[in-house]
Amino acid sequence: MSDPQPVYLSDYQPPAYRVTHTELTFDLDPAATRVKARLLMERNDEVSDQTPLVLNGEHLALISLAIDGTPLTDADYQLNEKNLCIPKVPASFSLESEVEIAPSTNTALEGLYQSSGMYCTQCEAEGFRRITFYPDRPDVMATFTVTVIGDQESEPVLLANGNPVDSGKLENGRHFATWEDPHPKPCYLFALVAGNLHKVEDRFSTMSGRNVTLQIWVEKDNLDKTEHAMASLKRSMAWDEQTYGREYDLDLFMIVAVSDFNMGAMENKGLNIFNSAAVLTHPHTATDATFQNVEGIVAHEYFHNWSGNRVTCRDWFQLSLKEGFTVFRDQCFSADTNSAPVKRIQDVSFFRTAQFAEDAGPTAHPVRPDHFIEITNFYTLTIYEKGAEVVRMLCNLVGWDNFRRGADQYFERFDGQAVTIEDFVGCMADTSGEDLSQFMRWYAQAGTPEIDAHGEYDYVKSEYHLTLRQRTPATPGQTTKQPLHIPVRMGLVGTKSGQDLALTLEGETLGKDAVINLRDNEQTFVFTEVAEAPVPSLLRDFSAPVKLHFPYSREELAFLLTHDSDGFNRWDAGQRLAMLALDDLIAAHRNGVEKVMDARVIEAFRILLTGPVSDKAVLAEMLTLPSEAYIAEQQPIVDVDAIHAAREFVRQSLALALRDEFAATFEANRSDEPYAPTPEQIAQRSLKNIALSYLMSIEEEQAIAFCQAQFAADHNMTDVRHALTLLVHSDRDDLSSPALKAFGEKWAHDPLVMDQWFTIQVTRPQSDVLERVQFLMQHPAFSIKNPNKVRALIGAFAQNRVNFHRLDGQGYALLADVVIELNRLNPEIAARLITPLTRWQRFDETRQSLMRTQLERIKQEPLSSNVYEVVEKALA
Ligand code: ARG
Ligand code: ZN
Repeated sequence: MSDPQPVYLSDYQPPAYRVTHTELTFDLDPAATRVKARLLMERNDEVSDQTPLVLNGEHLALISLAIDGTPLTDADYQLNEKNLCIPKVPASFSLESEVEIAPSTNTALEGLYQSSGMYCTQCEAEGFRRITFYPDRPDVMATFTVTVIGDQESEPVLLANGNPVDSGKLENGRHFATWEDPHPKPCYLFALVAGNLHKVEDRFSTMSGRNVTLQIWVEKDNLDKTEHAMASLKRSMAWDEQTYGREYDLDLFMIVAVSDFNMGAMENKGLNIFNSAAVLTHPHTATDATFQNVEGIVAHEYFHNWSGNRVTCRDWFQLSLKEGFTVFRDQCFSADTNSAPVKRIQDVSFFRTAQFAEDAGPTAHPVRPDHFIEITNFYTLTIYEKGAEVVRMLCNLVGWDNFRRGADQYFERFDGQAVTIEDFVGCMADTSGEDLSQFMRWYAQAGTPEIDAHGEYDYVKSEYHLTLRQRTPATPGQTTKQPLHIPVRMGLVGTKSGQDLALTLEGETLGKDAVINLRDNEQTFVFTEVAEAPVPSLLRDFSAPVKLHFPYSREELAFLLTHDSDGFNRWDAGQRLAMLALDDLIAAHRNGVEKVMDARVIEAFRILLTGPVSDKAVLAEMLTLPSEAYIAEQQPIVDVDAIHAAREFVRQSLALALRDEFAATFEANRSDEPYAPTPEQIAQRSLKNIALSYLMSIEEEQAIAFCQAQFAADHNMTDVRHALTLLVHSDRDDLSSPALKAFGEKWAHDPLVMDQWFTIQVTRPQSDVLERVQFLMQHPAFSIKNPNKVRALIGAFAQNRVNFHRLDGQGYALLADVVIELNRLNPEIAARLITPLTRWQRFDETRQSLMRTQLERIKQEPLSSNVYEVVEKALA
């Protein structure tokens, strides 16, 4: 078998044949579904009439093939594992085919498959080729008419994209439904769902006064878990009208919840399909974080109707065109709906942990990659989240009004087309008049840029000189980097006044909060008329996705923590201050010397806990220490044990020094109001629960009593899960075991709650975790074929820093075992699961070699192209 080969952006060719209309008929059967297709096709004028027709098709059993009604014989076409080639076709014709597929054995969950008995599809990126022979590429857009035939009893509900136009009974207990989608779309947006589903219905009246029917389809037991998704959908529809002037364009919008799904959700036209974990909520089964996540994902998929569906991508290298823009849109929506500073803090904190790690590892790639082997490996934090940061910079650079006019132009000019990132940025350049040519490098260069900043105050001249130097480290395949255009939002905070000082740069008055543009490798910015010595507040609101180094003293950080006018940077100053203390403690742990807690951190926390509280949600974030994963990112070589010990030491020192303050905060924020996922309640719960975490870190009797009472009160899942986690992660088996048992028995019937039960157990720091993972893999609620289960048990275990990285290498071996098994069943999930092993270069030599051994072991297997690509890169 030859190794899988990459495809290159530079090889892009427009399609030789387009499809103007697609007619599909599905005769559903678990093991033998028949798919009839009738494609109206036309040759593009630019190509010669000798150009063969090449269609994609994989795992299809061909039954028959005809052109304009005339059957083709074996001699008329060539067929291999991936393609169907018909050397001679007319300029305009209809291609009729029939194939057979087997949804019940489709464990890859791409194309048409079964999930708890129902049929559903996932076609993005290249799943449609597992359904029928087709030019499976996003720049071929057609209208679709789809007929679904199923069993009246087992599939009473038959759904597809667009509007229902016909339905009726057939012989032998069968029935059919026909759907028409009038909007031309690429086949990756095709969807079909059939099964015993129940719906919740609502309506939305659009800005032009049209009535849209909204439906959420679920299994019967989940009917009581749809309210929040429905409310989120209506808020999203209103927000897109108000913010972007975008209206929904069909009379029906459907969401379906399925339990087996590789990703979060999918924006199929008019028929979004969701992982049940990304849509179902109930106060007793879902946490605040899940409620917020569901709101964001519902919005994300809905927003794709314009940024993705009406205007789509020319090819998959442009994936961030729709994903980066849509993530930016959903982030802004969530910021508007909840606490904006907290949304930013959470997004950035995740970004700096996970995307920075990706950008520093062997799978680093640009926001627009220039080659790939397997596109499903590129649904990454770089494409999505860094892509969103790039769009955010663009928006800040041209200003909202120009950005909005640019978006209008983009949607109008390219409606119904498949376009490129240049087309998008071009609209922004057009409406703003800005030169964005240097900015385009953000799309082409991988790696996280680092800025070394240095400042000096000249008392005599009242000047502040700020020097910024940028560099982007080499990444695989990109050794030299060019300087980027980096917008740095900043202020100078006066050390006497504690206020932002007026900024005058080269004679120009900028106000108190301004953006300076770093374009060269090194630039010095001279601020004049600076009346007092300032502390610079740099990269406010995380104005660019970079690492900023400034030699702040702990006193300066403590000062910014209380005085910075930018909420994000106040939080960041706290994180930096904690990091300095953690660095000392990590060193102490390694050197075997006694750990001493930095009193300045305790004082900073005391002020936070006792001062006036303006935003409880922000306060909860400020009281949260950097995660072990984030701390690890900051170390040259990751020492998992030292990091864990240092962070625990800080938590316990804070809890001992501020026990009364934490207890008071806990008491002050208890509430027995009925649960609602409102920003106010969520903020109050986070603050209460973070206080409880500190109290539990010293396991004193009162804290344990609080924790057990909160668990027993069973008021809502946020509080129950938090209390359960603290009990299970404590060192006391007498607390852990009974709580776990009670919870597991109570929720045995609910798969999404059992996912949480798995995760809580395998993320505990105690050393019995690996054996527990092995034991839980045999649990009836676990299934290796269900991606949510794999993520909840195996994925979560691989995030357990101390236990996954055990020095006997058994954690790595366990992960490799699962990867090898999943490589056969579900290559997309297998490839994702390897990620922690790909980061071997960050660890000590012993662990490096243990991790590489497992990668080598995986490499010996007959690999899917997904796993092959990741392992190759990791070992290169
Ligand atoms: N477009 C979807 C979203 O961002 C993701 C689908 C990815 N599918 C996949 N099989 N990788 O919402
Ligand atoms: Zn998306």
